[in-house]
Amino acid sequence: MKVLLIGSGGREHALAWKLAQSPRLTALYAAPGNPGIAEEATIVDVDTADNAAVLAFCRREAIDFVVVGPEAPLVAGLADTLRNGGIAVFGPSAAAAQLEGSKGFTKDICAKYNIPTGAYQRFTSAEPAKAYIRQNGAPIVIKADGLAAGKGVTVAMSLEDALDAVDSCFSGAFGAAGAEVVVEAYLDGEEASFFCLCDGTSALALASAQDHKRVGDGDTGPNTGGMGAYSPAPVMTPDMVERTMRDIIEPTIAGMADSGHPFTGVLFAGLMITAKGPELIEYNVRFGDPECQVLMMRLKSDLLPLLHAAATGTLASVSAEWRDEAALTVVMASKGYPGAYEKNTPIAKLPEAEAGTKVFHAGTALKDGQLVATGGRVLNVTAMGSTVSDAKDRAYAALDRVEWDNGFSRRDIGWQAVEREKA
Ligand code: AMP
Ligand code: GLY
Repeated sequence: MKVLLIGSGGREHALAWKLAQSPRLTALYAAPGNPGIAEEATIVDVDTADNAAVLAFCRREAIDFVVVGPEAPLVAGLADTLRNGGIAVFGPSAAAAQLEGSKGFTKDICAKYNIPTGAYQRFTSAEPAKAYIRQNGAPIVIKADGLAAGKGVTVAMSLEDALDAVDSCFSGAFGAAGAEVVVEAYLDGEEASFFCLCDGTSALALASAQDHKRVGDGDTGPNTGGMGAYSPAPVMTPDMVERTMRDIIEPTIAGMADSGHPFTGVLFAGLMITAKGPELIEYNVRFGDPECQVLMMRLKSDLLPLLHAAATGTLASVSAEWRDEAALTVVMASKGYPGAYEKNTPIAKLPEAEAGTKVFHAGTALKDGQLVATGGRVLNVTAMGSTVSDAKDRAYAALDRVEWDNGFSRRDIGWQAVEREKA
């Protein structure tokens, strides 16, 4: 099978690395790619924001299957263009991608199909939102409806912060994404991410992971795209997985099909495990970054037939096997991230390859033969271990061999699981 992978982050490096191991692969292309992806795939010069150009490339090169990594091309209808053009594609239609693109859309699906989530209301102006907030009190959560690069959510512990968040959304802090606001009940519990493949009518559970959104140790400082992750998440016991599939994922798949927007691709459920059980915080319609990196390390099965089955309505004929070990990844970011940072700083050395560890590239480039950091999140140093603590020790040992003066990382990735393992 000739495959084109769309994307350029650590998530796509992990997908490329895993796809490249498939005996069913005949050629792997990637756009825009990065130097890590270039070790696994042929990088091609196609404008991935131009759906017609991607389709034309696929026809010219006789591509059999396209795997879309990030959400932006999905929300922009790349999967629709390719599917209408007769090319198999892993990723939802623009209509189904609203599960990530509009928080209000997802909440309405939850309400209609009785999926457990915080009580909510949607607003298009400030005063009614503020009245609702005053009525319900803090803590309460205010969310810009649209895609806001992970920054559109305020978990307000005080009434004042909640009212300020409403003003900030409606005064354009998140651009068009904040033109509508969802106000929802605060959920208390432990968070976990859960991933499943979907083919429009059925779902295949993959695995769980835990992200670390804050930039600083001890979960302090501003939110980021994610500073590290591990899999599995201990809070996702077999019972919680079963309840999540039955109460959240399966009704979503049935509801999306029933609404005329069958969902295909990967459904990434952000969950809060509350005293009542799993409740949905949000959906993403793509793999998490860096959660994908730990999932790909743990996946024993060939990835290509799994993704292809999701794309072609044949998920019932495949299954996924996982390694029992834990995987943990630590993000190295440019100093200053998630604020402003210097670009093109040299990465002098990466650790030598070692079984059970892998450095995935996120924001890197080659400039005159020198590896440089071009993004906020730059490297994902990933390791397997018999426990999360063991994987953590191995990942940090590899990370300490990276020579990059302008890089930093958190030192406590995995802390929740490590504490649990000690107890
Ligand atoms: P989201 O962008 O929807 O993932 O939200 C970002 C973060 O805000 C989540 O990972 C949670 O930590 C937190 N959050 C979102 N919604 C809620 C909620 N209803 N209750 C408590 N925390 C929430
Ligand atoms: N790491 C969180 C995300 O990919 O959305």
